[in-house]
Amino acid sequence: MPNKIIGFSKLSRVEKIDWLNKNILDNSHQVKLILDKYLNSNKDIQAIHDSFSENSISNFYLPYSVSPNFLINDKIYTIPLVTEESSVVAALSNAAKFWFDKGGFKTEVKSFTKKGQIHFSFDGDKNILEEFIKINKKEILKSTDIITKNMKKRGGGISSIQLIDKTDELKSYFQLSVDFNTSDSMGANFINSCLESMSKKIKELSDQYFKKNNYSINIIMSILSNYTPDCIVESYAECDINDLVDIANIEPKEFAKKMKYAFDIAKIDISRAVTHNKGIMNGIDAILIATGNDFRAVEAGIHAYASSNSKYQSLSECSISGNKFRLSLKIPLSIGTVGGITDLHPLVKLSLQILDNPSSKDLMCIIASVGLAQNFAAVKSLITSGIQQGHMKMHLINLLIKNKANKDQIKKAKKYFLDKEINNSSVSEFIKSNK
Ligand code: MEV
Repeated sequence: MPNKIIGFSKLSRVEKIDWLNKNILDNSHQVKLILDKYLNSNKDIQAIHDSFSENSISNFYLPYSVSPNFLINDKIYTIPLVTEESSVVAALSNAAKFWFDKGGFKTEVKSFTKKGQIHFSFDGDKNILEEFIKINKKEILKSTDIITKNMKKRGGGISSIQLIDKTDELKSYFQLSVDFNTSDSMGANFINSCLESMSKKIKELSDQYFKKNNYSINIIMSILSNYTPDCIVESYAECDINDLVDIANIEPKEFAKKMKYAFDIAKIDISRAVTHNKGIMNGIDAILIATGNDFRAVEAGIHAYASSNSKYQSLSECSISGNKFRLSLKIPLSIGTVGGITDLHPLVKLSLQILDNPSSKDLMCIIASVGLAQNFAAVKSLITSGIQQGHMKMHLINLLIKNKANKDQIKKAKKYFLDKEINNSSVSEFIKSNK
């Protein structure tokens, strides 16, 4: 076990690696070689990456993929994706191709408001507090003028502030809930800066205002909320049931019925709902990472939204009406196409170019459609061939590499395992007997 170290962040990169070697990794010379191998040979690019995080000692690579043939609101897109999960991109590309001929995905941003909160405690008369906010609202808002100036030019800014009494749930607890339009940026820094400036002003004004009654506002914290139920996008795809052909030896009507039943299970059973939603997030997280968005924020918001009926449920719907088969997905998405690392990370910039430099509303539409396509692909496999067939086909390559297969062995293995069980020992046996 290493001893506690003070000042680690001040060490140079080489010193940090030495510390790892001496204290954790058995003094292995290999460590520096591996870490060096993954550094970018271009010093400028490496400097950009180093600036993203403290204590960075190398880069951690993931595949950067693209999935073509996405028809979204009558425009054809190629989707950039970052994921390590073998079958995600292949499944997504199949789904995109499948829906392409059926009109693709139709999608719409339903609402576009983000929220920040100033949490505070107040022990005095609620009516006097309400009066204080009412009288000082303009001045509190004015304290954000320097921060909101540019955002206002881009059509954004603060749209409302509201005092919320939470004292029924927690003694003395109030919130100032602030609504924002952050235009094309995700807006976390913008929202948090506005809130902190407003908090300071509230403190200053309230200390003066409540002096005579001996009351005071105690600011606890000021932060955006990652729960964004007023920043919603919906995507759907529909077709005639008769068009559900060429899907794994199953009649279109039978497929539609089975698909709807699978979606209905995910509405009522939490264990299935979580996995169903994970399938949606496979695609969503991959495009979020490729476009430099905060996938942790989106994940947190989406799963809270999935629980908004007081029970965790699946996010997507499947319906059959007459001869129409319809899939839809409605989710909160707080994302951006400017700010953050979008102007810094070379591959994020490229991803946005591949997507034809979308506005944040356009990107919301694209992301929701990717989520729905990924969901369709997963459930389609589950109710027909099962998930393992496609998954293990892709995983075979991982196992071959792990077992140090050469090019010839890989070629032979792809044929051999077409109708065989794929697992580490069968692959390892195959390599031994095909030396
Ligand atoms: C695997 O990454 C995702 C699935 O489990 C999703 C689902 O079950 O719907 C296949």
